[in-house]
Amino acid sequence: MSTTANPSPAVSGFGFGRVFTDHLTTMSWTRGGWERPQVRPFGNLSLSPAAMVLHYGQAIFEGLKAYPHPDGEIRLFRPELNARRFQLSAERMAMPRLPVDAFLESVSLLVSADRAQVPDRPGHSLYLRPLMIATEATLGTRPAEEYLFLVLGSPSGPYFDAASPAITVWVSQDLPRAHPGGTGNAKCAGNYAAGMAVQRTAADHGADQVVFLDAREHRYLEELGGMNLFLVREDPHGPTLVTPPLSDTILHGITRSSLLTLAADLGLRVEERPIALTEWRDGSRDGSVAESFACGTAAVVTPIGRVRTAEEEFVIGDGTPGQWSTRLRTELLAIQEGTAPDRHGWMRAVS
Ligand SMILES: Cc1ncc(COP(=O)(O)O)c(C=O)c1O
Repeated sequence: MSTTANPSPAVSGFGFGRVFTDHLTTMSWTRGGWERPQVRPFGNLSLSPAAMVLHYGQAIFEGLKAYPHPDGEIRLFRPELNARRFQLSAERMAMPRLPVDAFLESVSLLVSADRAQVPDRPGHSLYLRPLMIATEATLGTRPAEEYLFLVLGSPSGPYFDAASPAITVWVSQDLPRAHPGGTGNAKCAGNYAAGMAVQRTAADHGADQVVFLDAREHRYLEELGGMNLFLVREDPHGPTLVTPPLSDTILHGITRSSLLTLAADLGLRVEERPIALTEWRDGSRDGSVAESFACGTAAVVTPIGRVRTAEEEFVIGDGTPGQWSTRLRTELLAIQEGTAPDRHGWMRAVS
């Protein structure tokens, strides 16, 4: 009973996150521990208006995809990393730890129940959204004592409009996304809520996404609202893939980590180091920064063509996707979609 009618995957264009499959997996937690996961029809939740998530925002989530493979199996991409990150997010928000096996079982149950709704076109997949919310009904400010874990599925196509091959980003110079000691490396709802105002400013300036700077000096690139960031430099010793180092202000992206591995396979040098906004701007202008892209489960690898700030604008390369961005995207998608060997053992069949 999805709120949006479910068109057949074979005949519809989905966009991203707009339609939902027929089921949900749910599991409740009370002080007695986790109940067993249950598959039930997709439908509205019943929550007390005093449910703590609505007031104090104890809410965490994940995002991963299931891909139909040419051999008929449906496989998930590195789901145990999502399960572990979910545990880290839960710990940061004083929420109960969900065992990795229970996370994986809940996801698999949903994919099995809604197998027929996994889209089978290139560039499409079943996006899975596990989440946990505080359901206890009280206005006391303390960690809740009742929670609900859910997994929903959304047959999805490309995150960005396929007609524009490279996105424009807006640099948020005054409002950071995360600060040292904060919740930037947890996938909690509040991080995204805090970025909405800047996202609106970005849209007002004709940009698709926001790039956030560090909170201390407002100088260094961190990440986008829902994606990690990479630059490709043309260095004297050859092309180098550069990305900001992980910290407690950056989400430890699974796509980011996978691309670092694939880049090394392709013979690209990789550097994880602070990157100043001025390096990005000056390098783009003198050609030493040849490419830039954003990456994440939803966006895969999305080239960045143009960067806007309150004062200026610069173009990366010729504003269209560069060769390394394209190559990395192709390599990653081929593994995810099962058209290239899974040489790193990343894919997990849904049991
Ligand atoms: C803030 C943020 N950064 C980066 C990412 C990319 O992470 P992943 O590659 O694990 O999807 C996401 C998406 O989960 C995100 O929300």
